[in-house]
Amino acid sequence: MSLIKSFAILALVALAAGSVQKSKPMKKFQPEVAPQISVREACGDQYATGTGGSIISPNYPNGYANGESCGWFLTAENGNKIAVVVHDLQTEAGYDVLTILDGITGESPVLLELSGEASNLAVLSTQPSIFVGFTTDSSINAPGFNCSWSQVNPQDSLELFGL
Ligand SMILES: *[C@@H]1O[C@H](CO)[C@@H](O)[C@H](O)[C@H]1NC(C)=O
Repeated sequence: MSLIKSFAILALVALAAGSVQKSKPMKKFQPEVAPQISVREACGDQYATGTGGSIISPNYPNGYANGESCGWFLTAENGNKIAVVVHDLQTEAGYDVLTILDGITGESPVLLELSGEASNLAVLSTQPSIFVGFTTDSSINAPGFNCSWSQVNPQDSLELFGL
């Protein structure tokens, strides 16, 4: 999967850049859940477990930076599924990309890949975890995105969100 490859490459680049400057202690992750996509320095990885929250690109709506690579690893409680709603997305089409995976492993299938402009759309996981990634290339910025996530009972559907 080329997405995973590009995350892996970014991870290697981040590692290489880090080791040139000084040997920073590596952040502790859960290698068993995300071996390929677990170490990125540009805007970091965030882990959240719970009922929901916001996922907002750095500096939204005033423009994200070039060369960003952000990851959100979200896990619902009690076996619930996760819905992610994209309220607003404005990025450089084709190059600054929001990706949502159905799960938080390197093999998790892609639920959604978005760039350009979008609003009011939602995806639902098939199981209790979701990965949201955002990568930007080396030029051209835009406002970014504003998403939220929430846990959803296994029997519920996206109709809950009126979308
Ligand atoms: C994101 O969108 C939601 C829903 O429209 C809104 O309530 C919230 O204020 C927005 N957040 C930001 C940071 O703009």
